[in-house]
Amino acid sequence: MCRLAGYIGEKEAVRIIMDSLSRQSYGGYDSAGVVIGSESNIICVKSVGRLENLEKKLEEKKLKGNWGIGHIRWASHGRVSLTNAHPFSDCQKKIYLVHNGIIENWRRLKRKLLDKGHRFVSETDSEILSHLIEDYFEGSLEEAVKKALREIRGAYGLLAISKNEPKKIIAARLSSPLLIGIGEREGEYILASDPAAIAPYTKKVINLNDYEIASVNPGNSLLIVKERKLQFLDFDVKKSEKGPYPHFMLKEIMEGPETIENAVKGRLVPEEGTVKLGGLEEVSEKLKRINRLLLVGCGTAFHAAKVGKYMIEEYADIPCEADVASELRYRKPLLDNKTAAVFISQSGETADTLAVLREFKKKGTLTIGITNAVGSSQARETDAGVYTRSGPEISVASTKAFLGQLTVLAMLTVFLGRQRNMSLVTGKRIVSELSKMPRLVRKILKRAPEIKKLAKKYKRYQNIWFIGRKYNFPVALEGALKLKEVSYLHAEGTAGGELKHGPLALIDKRFPTIAICPSDSVYDKMVSNIQEIRARQGRIIALATERNREIEEIVDDVIYILKTLEMLTPLLSVVPLQLFAYYTAHHLGRDIDKPKNLAKSVTVE
Ligand code: AGP
Repeated sequence: MCRLAGYIGEKEAVRIIMDSLSRQSYGGYDSAGVVIGSESNIICVKSVGRLENLEKKLEEKKLKGNWGIGHIRWASHGRVSLTNAHPFSDCQKKIYLVHNGIIENWRRLKRKLLDKGHRFVSETDSEILSHLIEDYFEGSLEEAVKKALREIRGAYGLLAISKNEPKKIIAARLSSPLLIGIGEREGEYILASDPAAIAPYTKKVINLNDYEIASVNPGNSLLIVKERKLQFLDFDVKKSEKGPYPHFMLKEIMEGPETIENAVKGRLVPEEGTVKLGGLEEVSEKLKRINRLLLVGCGTAFHAAKVGKYMIEEYADIPCEADVASELRYRKPLLDNKTAAVFISQSGETADTLAVLREFKKKGTLTIGITNAVGSSQARETDAGVYTRSGPEISVASTKAFLGQLTVLAMLTVFLGRQRNMSLVTGKRIVSELSKMPRLVRKILKRAPEIKKLAKKYKRYQNIWFIGRKYNFPVALEGALKLKEVSYLHAEGTAGGELKHGPLALIDKRFPTIAICPSDSVYDKMVSNIQEIRARQGRIIALATERNREIEEIVDDVIYILKTLEMLTPLLSVVPLQLFAYYTAHHLGRDIDKPKNLAKSVTVE
């Protein structure tokens, strides 16, 4: 998704805005632009492609000025081109704006404005805004923005400036995230779509809520600030740097053990075979009375939801459904007061997941959030929740956040189970195994060199199948998603039992399979699936429990994981698949942290 940045203060605005855009560049990156204001003028510079291209143009132009706005684009309306890059201006080139979101009624508004003689330069929906504001402009930019936004249907985070009102930025939000950072110096403000871009400059922020408009300028101490409680970013900038790693994805995979440690810290109560989840205490009595759970997410978060469904049904005896948010928002799920919903999101800003959350809240359903991003929309809008504490996840391909989500779902299972029929013994077993997880994952990460070699051996195949059963069916889906995202190879995940109902038709020696088959309750079934594949000369990499030697006789390669409780095997089995995807992309020379066509947090529908 697009990302915005803005600055007002005494420093060189272009430096701060470009740094802020680069810290958000995992959010979309097919073109970029800035407009910088000085005492006498405002100048706009745009470029196609990576942010570095814009940097080159700016070096030539040597822009001076201490206020301005900037944008990086993830194309939704209109192809990737210089004319479709933001910022956009009005016809007089007096008003400039940057926009993150989608305007659904843009065609009708464009026709109306064209009839009024406005001249458009781009194919985008966003450019509508600059002309609509121009249409309402009677001397006050803020008033014109307010009137223009009343006509807009859709989502927006926007920053607007005017030549006639120097050192003033109008910020507005509906659904797309937008924060205002209060600078260390009086009258200094840093604005951005993501806290990661503000944290290096200040920890004091205002999270704009939907339908809020702020007039940011040194003179007026932000009326809105007076009414709004400042939020303090819990964001360690050092952690959002790559350190010694060549890619954020590898760094974040290697942070798996620490992620689990952070997620369980102060939450396991071994002596009582239970967990303490402070964020759920307020709704603990309500959770005791629920008899149905809906688990909701997108992409990797949806795969975590599916694992959560298996855990909670088996150990907490609550019927569960796991569904992708983009489908659930148009389904008509039956919701009664004994149904609760768990929303899973790393960023806490995924538009489809937020849309379901807002719909369920309207219907009075109890909403629980499992979120990584502190202070994000999901964290602020759910009734209660648990942070995964995974730290900043920068790489578009989500890895450590998935481990954080699985760990919190396992703890939620114990929380709900111990409220119901889960015994002290079972609770103690799960809690004790959870406390061992960081050590077990560390042992698996030591096999990275082995997996790197395996990825090299299989990089020539254009298609790879992932199969798993029960708890590891969602892991097969996740393994396939990771490989697709970063290597651009065709990969599919399937329940092992589904192979013979169709997919087996594709299997031959050119289409290898990764079979996730730890020694669990469905191991024998997985072995029969492996035999079905072998019978058709399919190559197989097995992901098996250590000391299972027999498996070596029936597959081509084996990656061993350590033994643990069946319900916790996904925390171990996914790690080699994350490494396999990473090293395959590495061997194929892909841009691993910024895969093409993808964005870290999908803030529009
Ligand atoms: C995963 O690697 C992808 N980046 C994507 O599928 C992601 O999981 C999905 O967009 C959900 O994001 P969220 O957890 O921030 O809501």
